[in-house]
Amino acid sequence: MKVFGRNLELDHERAMISWSPFLIALLLLMSIPVVFVLAPRILPPKTMPSIPDLDEVDDLALFRRATLASAGGEGGRGGAGIRRRPASAPKIAFLFLTNSDLVFAPLWERFFHGHERLFNVYVHADPAAELLLPPTPSFRGRFIPAKATQRSSPTLISAARRLLAAALIDDPANAFFALLSQSCVPLHSFRFAYHALLADTGTPSNLPDGRRRRRSYIEISSTDPWMWNRYVARGDSVMLPEVPFERFRAGSQFFVLARRHAVMVVRDRRFWKKFKIPCLKSRVDSCYPEEHYFPTLLDMQDPAGCSRYTLTRVNWTDSVGGHPHMYQPPEISANLIKELRKSNSTYSHLFARKFSAECLDPLLKLADRLASNVPSLGFGFLDEDLVPGLDESNWLKLIHHSLFISEHHQATCFFKAKNKRLSSEIG
Ligand SMILES: *[C@@H]1O[C@H](CO)[C@@H](O)[C@H](O)[C@H]1NC(C)=O
Ligand SMILES: *[C@@H]1O[C@H](CO)[C@@H](O)[C@H](O)[C@H]1NC(C)=O
Repeated sequence: MKVFGRNLELDHERAMISWSPFLIALLLLMSIPVVFVLAPRILPPKTMPSIPDLDEVDDLALFRRATLASAGGEGGRGGAGIRRRPASAPKIAFLFLTNSDLVFAPLWERFFHGHERLFNVYVHADPAAELLLPPTPSFRGRFIPAKATQRSSPTLISAARRLLAAALIDDPANAFFALLSQSCVPLHSFRFAYHALLADTGTPSNLPDGRRRRRSYIEISSTDPWMWNRYVARGDSVMLPEVPFERFRAGSQFFVLARRHAVMVVRDRRFWKKFKIPCLKSRVDSCYPEEHYFPTLLDMQDPAGCSRYTLTRVNWTDSVGGHPHMYQPPEISANLIKELRKSNSTYSHLFARKFSAECLDPLLKLADRLASNVPSLGFGFLDEDLVPGLDESNWLKLIHHSLFISEHHQATCFFKAKNKRLSSEIG
């Protein structure tokens, strides 16, 4: 028995010896998933959050619909298919990208008033934003399905693309797409802005009918001093081969795109694949994907179709933490508006940012100033120096430089301007 017992012990020992490496291996194997599950929680991630897969799937479906809806339109690949003729006059789509209340809505209402047939409004509001102000008429029912947005992340590109897609699908008459934020304000009347965009002679095209094509107004720069840092914000060579450094561009986030470029942007997958890569946390200071995606894409795909300057004025003097100067009420004056309109290009700026919410009242007062002088005009002028005399020779200037003047008021102006030649020039 004793011998038997000893043998048993020996067997047991032998078993221990032969089993233990297997056990260790097994334990190691089992620990791999644990490491995968726990490591990201213990070690801080090296990159900023990426775009959730579900959001990507939703977006892809939306962008496909927008591309299909636009096939054969101005943005279509000429020739093939039936060209869908929009039933109405060309419209401007105003795309508001916001993460707070649209505090300047009352100002925009005055800008829009009387031009309902010539524009559409679309709003992408971050779902986390607590909107306290009830939407004013032009904004009511104009909110598109939105997803979370944050700085230093490609979510701002996605949001802009959603707005473009929604506007492309919604109305084939949308010819220009102006991206704006809640802190943007108009610098001219609707009529002025509409004519500036629609009357542009555009760029020559190789279309069979020799039609000229509308231009997009987007800043495209290759001389930003921080370009290299911005290029490698996602990692040293992750942008290759699609985007070599020499082709990487910078520009203002806010633009006015012609329809064919809006289609180009929602159809894109090649550049998005790169620009959606989250930035490295260590390089987050150089992470501004939305200031690079659109200019790079358009400069690579249709450089001749873009103005290379923006129509939205911004003041970068003494900027702090990547934020431009935020105008405060004491700064609001007719002279400021005039100053902001000035541009180095042939075009006056049409919009400006950023204005603090408190600027609403002074801006409205500025727009209302004439109302008390000439009640028949209701509201609408910023060029106060033109107002006092109101002599006929000033009407033309007044009309062209007035802010928020509606068609009704325009008619009043025509009526008042007895000088027929003047009227015909305006018409
Ligand atoms: C731009 O902002 C600076 C302050 O940062 C201000 O002094 C200057 O007047 C502003 N320029 C214009 C044209 O508003
Ligand atoms: C015009 O260009 C000059 C020189 O490049 C620059 O300093 C100035 O700020 C520009 N003005 C506007 C209104 O963009």
